[in-house]
Amino acid sequence: MSEAWAAVERSGTAPLAELFQAEPDRLDRLTVEESGIRFDFSKTHLSTDGLAAFVRVAEGMDLAGRREAMFTGAIVNTTEGRAAEHSAERGQGSPESVARANVLHSRMRALIDAIEAEAFGPVRHILHIGIGGSALGPDFVIDALGRDSARYDCAVVSNVDGAALEEAIAGFDPHSTLLVIASKTFTTLETMLNARSAIAWLSEGGVADPYGRIVALTANPEKAVEFGVDETRVLPFSDTVGGRYSLWSSIGFPIALALGWEAFETLREGAAAMDRHFRYAPTERNAPVLAAFVDRYYANIRGCQTRAVFAYDERLRLLPAYLQQLEMESNGKSVRLDGSPVGRAAAAVVWGGVGTDAQHAVFQLLHQGTHLVPVEFVATLESGHHQSEEHHRQLLINCFAQGAALMAGKASDDPHRSYPGDRPSTTILLDRLDPATLGALLAFYEQRTFANAVLLGINPFDQFGVELGKEMASSIDAGEAPDFDPSTRALMERAFGEEG
Ligand code: F6P
Repeated sequence: MSEAWAAVERSGTAPLAELFQAEPDRLDRLTVEESGIRFDFSKTHLSTDGLAAFVRVAEGMDLAGRREAMFTGAIVNTTEGRAAEHSAERGQGSPESVARANVLHSRMRALIDAIEAEAFGPVRHILHIGIGGSALGPDFVIDALGRDSARYDCAVVSNVDGAALEEAIAGFDPHSTLLVIASKTFTTLETMLNARSAIAWLSEGGVADPYGRIVALTANPEKAVEFGVDETRVLPFSDTVGGRYSLWSSIGFPIALALGWEAFETLREGAAAMDRHFRYAPTERNAPVLAAFVDRYYANIRGCQTRAVFAYDERLRLLPAYLQQLEMESNGKSVRLDGSPVGRAAAAVVWGGVGTDAQHAVFQLLHQGTHLVPVEFVATLESGHHQSEEHHRQLLINCFAQGAALMAGKASDDPHRSYPGDRPSTTILLDRLDPATLGALLAFYEQRTFANAVLLGINPFDQFGVELGKEMASSIDAGEAPDFDPSTRALMERAFGEEG
């Protein structure tokens, strides 16, 4: 173990209440205000010594150098021989990559203008088909920002379960539906099957030229054209943009269409502001880096296997699902960049839900259970509804009370009624939920994920772990009979009969 990691371990586990007493400036030091968001890490066990030790770990892992390498378009995704240029999609990258992204964005805007001008006939519904990074980002952003203002009815279909498509098209009129097929590779089984079924639905619904109603978003334009999409309606993006980092690229097309171009641009500007903060703010005042230190502290020093994220804002209800892919697909790895074992716990299992619902379901375990779970509260000062302000006051009161209760605990002679306390939480408080702050919040999570990867020495930009299951499914599909275990063989026989 490096001397810096040994110093992190030595920095200890003083209780939160003691840390607040011993470090009177703790709140100020561990609170960062950036882009209309307050990041409060003070109710975590990151001590002054611990922070100093983590700064040395970051130096030892060359965080500054690797961050610069990413922003300048170097090959940071070494296993796939690619750069990771999602930041260039919001103007923060090498001049060539930013220029290339700008050209592609202009094409996207022109297509949106044409759709708005009814060049493709009337459009009222957007049926967006994609999965993983080709669905989660657009779904989350449109759900968060489009509640009052979406200009089209949008449905995002990802699951191969036909029930998902059926539910999505239930209220849609085929004659006014635009079919958006989003797939970086344009080969993903679920997306291709859903797309074919959606085309059949258009056709059965009387649309004479269903292929004329398709827009494709992809890094593999040839495949989209081969599929039958007219090349003028293929919006490409660079293969240096990873799927789970792609909502800023043409994958964000339904966002721009549903919320308007200005909102999409403001979303990207908000992300760019967070990129600049991540790139230039000093380590001790850098929100994504501090968050990564907290993540490493709980995973590597306290042995926490999970992290819970609770959105105290109904509009952010899809945040936990979005973060599950971002963090677990990026950093759910066991080897370093050079293939050697990572040697310590990598990504935590991310889970969560919305407050206050979660308080009446899972918070029992958080307060009194045997697991130590670092909790993240995400809330917004301005409400997003037209109900009485009392709703929002209660929502925020509950959010703050939970963080305070987790930390303070409460002693009792009755062990059943005793709360151990000293349970950590981070609070992320948005002034308001608008495209700029949401963009900044998303970039914060992306860069925090990257910072975690650097501290661990792993590549956050590949995802080979998802391939084996896909391979097995396609060999079953192809009628090949790989040497399955007895349990799997029995399941196949039960579902498909002797033939398999
Ligand atoms: O299976 C994982 C994955 O490759 C994700 O990384 C990606 O976001 C998703 O599948 C969808 O892939 P595509 O955009 O190529 O259809």
